[in-house]
Amino acid sequence: MPPRARKFLITGAKGCIGAWLVRNLVERGASPVIVDVDPHADRLRALLSEQDLARVDFAPADVTNLEALDRVVASRRITHIIHLAALQVPACAANPPLGGQVNVVGTLNVFEVARRHRDQVRRIVYASSAAVFGPDEYYQDGRVPEGAPLQPGTHYGVFKQCNEGNARVYYQSDGISSVGLRPWAVYGVGRDQGITSGPTKAIKAVVLGRPYCIQFTGGLDLQYVKDTARIFLQCAESDLPGARVYTLRGSVTAIDAFLETLARVAPQARDLIRAQGKALPIAHDLDDSLLVRDLGEVPRTPLEAGIRETLTIFEQLRREGRLDARDLDN
Ligand SMILES: NC(=O)c1ccc[n+]([C@@H]2O[C@H](COP(=O)([O-])OP(=O)(O)OC[C@H]3O[C@@H](n4cnc5c(N)ncnc54)[C@H](O)[C@@H]3O)[C@@H](O)[C@H]2O)c1
Repeated sequence: MPPRARKFLITGAKGCIGAWLVRNLVERGASPVIVDVDPHADRLRALLSEQDLARVDFAPADVTNLEALDRVVASRRITHIIHLAALQVPACAANPPLGGQVNVVGTLNVFEVARRHRDQVRRIVYASSAAVFGPDEYYQDGRVPEGAPLQPGTHYGVFKQCNEGNARVYYQSDGISSVGLRPWAVYGVGRDQGITSGPTKAIKAVVLGRPYCIQFTGGLDLQYVKDTARIFLQCAESDLPGARVYTLRGSVTAIDAFLETLARVAPQARDLIRAQGKALPIAHDLDDSLLVRDLGEVPRTPLEAGIRETLTIFEQLRREGRLDARDLDN
């Protein structure tokens, strides 16, 4: 399909990864359709000008509503769906039935609509998560290989694993091709909720000269949101058949090393930022060789460069009086 003929629908597009995806699409002249239940568009407004925002088609739908989603896909003649809408780990833990409704049923609805419009919808790319893996101690030392057993320790992780299984069944039964992507901790402007938003909040706190404490320690894999958004798009534009699932890999590090890097970029961080708590129960040194094999080179912004760029954008928003700091109080 020629690039200009593609019509993208992004669910959860007002979220962190979604806002960067929308920005990327608009920058290359596309007019994406988006659905999101958030009545505001703060993350999009932080990243796009009013003129660029005018290119976005805000469609009314909630992913838990199959018929509403169907109407959007049919009326806009959607060819590619990037499905990001979800509740994060804390929200799923607080209300598992609601988490299942949004994260599992919402994903089923996306696939079901693609099945109904199979001649029109060419591809689904959906967000899975590294939370499908268990804690580091469940695996042997060193990099966790592709194909290692999934042992999620949260409802959120179980929901994501369930989605990967449903994607496989939709391919086997109906020939619906899809790609599921498993990010670890995405960071960058717009990352303001979920446990692993701590590093981004720390960068924002530095810009505001405020103390901040990240609520976990230990190993993590920090993936710059601009790279993550690009990888979602690369997968959407590929013609890879099947129900594929890829683990993403960015800067595999530890909280202490992140704090060191942050202080190198912004020395005032040394007095302002600290971390406490346990390590997160998700293996953090994960192999992404399948992704590289199938997609070729994927973007991998070095941690220091990603921190620098995030600081620069936050600084700019602060100067313009538009830096939203409500997330630092959560
Ligand atoms: N950010 C990360 O580090 C990370 C890591 C692994 C996986 N993921 C996954 O990537 C996806 C995007 O993550 P993010 O950080 O951008 O999340 P986010 O929380 O910033 O955004 C999620 C968006 O989904 C929307 N949404 C929630 N319920 C909805 C519904 N019923 N219908 C339509 N929209 C709804 C929210 O309003 C929000 O704008 C999610 O599926 C998430 O689970 C993210």
